[in-house]
Amino acid sequence: MAFDLPKLSYAYDALEPYIDARTMEIHLTKHHYGYTNNLNNAIAGTNLEGKSINDILTKLDMNNTAVRNNGGGYYNHNLFWEVMNPEGKGYLSGELKDAIVAEFGSVEDFKDTFAKAAATRFGSGWAWLCVHKGGKVEICSTPNQDNPLMPGVSCKGTPILALDVWEHAYYLKYQNRRPDYINAFFNVINWNYVEKLYAENK
Ligand SMILES: [Fe+2]
Repeated sequence: MAFDLPKLSYAYDALEPYIDARTMEIHLTKHHYGYTNNLNNAIAGTNLEGKSINDILTKLDMNNTAVRNNGGGYYNHNLFWEVMNPEGKGYLSGELKDAIVAEFGSVEDFKDTFAKAAATRFGSGWAWLCVHKGGKVEICSTPNQDNPLMPGVSCKGTPILALDVWEHAYYLKYQNRRPDYINAFFNVINWNYVEKLYAENK
């Protein structure tokens, strides 16, 4: 079974004006499509074929750069599309809010810390909110298409919120203004979904 490019649960223009339709379309149909195809090609005929993406990434040989880059790209974008939704709940509540306030002091302090992790990631990469067993949350960032599931990556836990800070994610609308894109992202997070991932993985 090869991996499939997911279908968005919302239209390309649904995240306007925060994330523009053209960026969404190119991001999914060119970039994510490329990672998906390259991942399928990289695992075809190997012992990784038929395994789940989580299984592949958690046991990854980090020297296998084709699977590292494209398997990471496949998983990371899947999560990224899911944590955004124009009709999602736009505010934090419940036990995830409690965990975030316990760790960062307030929701605003959490946003500041997450935005800083995303803004200071040099070059291309991702910012993450992860949950550890027991419920503690952590913010971190990774380069390229690495993610916290992979062996030896300095940030650990299960990712429950992902922000793509590759230029392809924002350049058409924001050019070099990555901080503006990061601030816009907070308007399109579907906290229902993030809270569900927290509950499932704490
Ligand atoms: Fe991307």
